[in-house]
Amino acid sequence: MTIEMKNVLELADAALSADYTRVRRAANALARDLDKNGETSIAKELKALVRKRGVPLKASGYVESLPVDSKSRLPLVEEQTWPDTPIFLNEGGWHVFSDFIADARRIDDLSAKGLASRLGLLLSGPPGTGKSLLAGHIAAQLSRPLYVVRLDSVISSLLGDTAKNIRSVFDFVPARNAVLFLDEMDAVAKLRDDRHELGELKRVVNTVIQALDGLDPSSIVVAATNHAHLLDPAIWRRFPYKIELGLPDESVRADLWRHFLFEDKDEEGRAELFGVVSEGLSGADIETMSLSARRHAVHESRNIDFGAVVAALLEPRSGRTVPVQRQPLDAEQKRQVAIALKEKYAIGGADTARILGVSRQAIYAYLKQQEGEV
Ligand SMILES: Nc1ncnc2c1ncn2[C@@H]1O[C@H](COP(=O)(O)OP(=O)(O)O)[C@@H](O)[C@H]1O
Ligand SMILES: [Mg+2]
Repeated sequence: MTIEMKNVLELADAALSADYTRVRRAANALARDLDKNGETSIAKELKALVRKRGVPLKASGYVESLPVDSKSRLPLVEEQTWPDTPIFLNEGGWHVFSDFIADARRIDDLSAKGLASRLGLLLSGPPGTGKSLLAGHIAAQLSRPLYVVRLDSVISSLLGDTAKNIRSVFDFVPARNAVLFLDEMDAVAKLRDDRHELGELKRVVNTVIQALDGLDPSSIVVAATNHAHLLDPAIWRRFPYKIELGLPDESVRADLWRHFLFEDKDEEGRAELFGVVSEGLSGADIETMSLSARRHAVHESRNIDFGAVVAALLEPRSGRTVPVQRQPLDAEQKRQVAIALKEKYAIGGADTARILGVSRQAIYAYLKQQEGEV
């Protein structure tokens, strides 16, 4: 089996013609070849690159219409690809998500019956809880391109230019039948600091409102903010659908561990235990810790040491992740983990044995030893 050379040529040709659709297709075909040839890690990297890199619209032929900041000449909008990792939400989140998709799909029917509302979805929650990922899933579900606008970059320029920037973004996107994703919405609210007058803030808020109101009723706008309470109520009202992505609850945390750490294979039900002991972590935190434990296993050609992840979770932490140690736990560390799981979470015996990969007898011995010490 060899690499299909025509895919390499196609990739070079597409890149030089600045045709990003072809670049993606050729790169994915090449990644598949590499994968088949056992070059799995480079294949993965290539796929990740294709997925993560936003497409520079300027290069993809939108030269005339691409909105740029008049000072910096930086693009105000970027197209991003659809996500290829799943999103985990609590039940309330799923309800709103599926309602929104269903309503968006039948917007014409609903309008005809006078039942349509604006297709505005507001996502709020702390960093790393999946707001950007969810916006990507909305676009994917609706098979529309995803155009991302970072409000902070739109606004950081001179205030007078801000209104112009906002208008040019809103003029540009609807014509492309896209999902418009307004990220960092709170940037508008943050203008309320002492460097700006209240009047200036009002003008920016009004421009955003006017721009939203000027959109066609079938336009889809998703906005994200870390601080929902800072948003101007007039903006808030323009998003009839809302999902609060708080820090994940125990069962969503278990879903996240199952996916990121156990790679969707967890016959032994260990992910639930990880869900219990990881309160306060965001989805991004869980992803970071999982990938780091999996990397250690690759570097040292061994299985993942789940105990090392639990040991990190048991360290004192205030919501943040703790680095996962590189070496597998030694016997004394396993003993400490067994004791802490028992004392803090009343987890013992068989459950601890499964996590630490030792026999149940060993756990009893650890805990007995502990009693002996008291
Ligand atoms: N609820 C979730 N479900 C699945 N993955 C998640 C979730 N929350 C966070 N992640 C992981 O963390 C990464 C960063 O999340 P992101 O969407 O950028 O968060 P935010 O936009 O809220 O700051 C995601 O790409 C994903 O890998
Ligand atoms: Mg984000």
